[in-house]
Amino acid sequence: MTAAMADAKKRRAAEAALKHIPAGSVLGVGTGSTVRFLIEALAAHSGLVRAAVSSSNATTTLLDAAGIPVLDLNDVADLPLYIDGADEATRARHLIKGGGGALTREKIVAAAADRFICIVDDSKLVGVLGSFPLPIEVIPMARKLIARWLEARGARPVWRQGFVTDNGNHILDVHGLTIADAPTLEGDLTGLTGVVTVGLFARRPADMLLVGTDQGVVTI
Ligand code: A5P
Repeated sequence: MTAAMADAKKRRAAEAALKHIPAGSVLGVGTGSTVRFLIEALAAHSGLVRAAVSSSNATTTLLDAAGIPVLDLNDVADLPLYIDGADEATRARHLIKGGGGALTREKIVAAAADRFICIVDDSKLVGVLGSFPLPIEVIPMARKLIARWLEARGARPVWRQGFVTDNGNHILDVHGLTIADAPTLEGDLTGLTGVVTVGLFARRPADMLLVGTDQGVVTI
């Protein structure tokens, strides 16, 4: 699949999400290349959203450029919908996210929203999560400690060197996982001291997946 073909599918999924946005609402906006198409579509439908809550500094920059006001989550009482991409998704709507490193704010905005629609191209749909290395945001001083714990469980954590999250933390990308029970693993890893956020979105999965394909968009 060429990059242009993948982009066409991402654009299709992003545009299919528009009809689910309550007119005039504040929208939670995720991060990544698929969301970039969503922001383009929002810019072309001026007034569809009143404002946005952003999940990353990168998204805030795009929203600013599109002329969409960005609100602090603390100032928003009602967030009916969050739309974001994913790195992997199952038919149970469990996700791996954080390839772009924005997982913590993404998980916060997803938790705050009444509904979470995930937009992906069909290359992201998998039977079992884990081929994509699982991103974990960690407090920098705990990085090696957490890496040792993960290694003891048979996983292979790789430090995303040179990358600092919007929250000033580090990312471990965990290879070698076959994630049969995503909600349990999410809970276990989240409980490790020094872990800020695990890129598994299974305890609060997406409510709807919009999957862009060559033929159109499949809703799961
Ligand atoms: C950002 O941290 C991620 O969670 C993204 O949502 C995810 O990586 C999907 O990005 P793309 O839409 O660029 O594939």
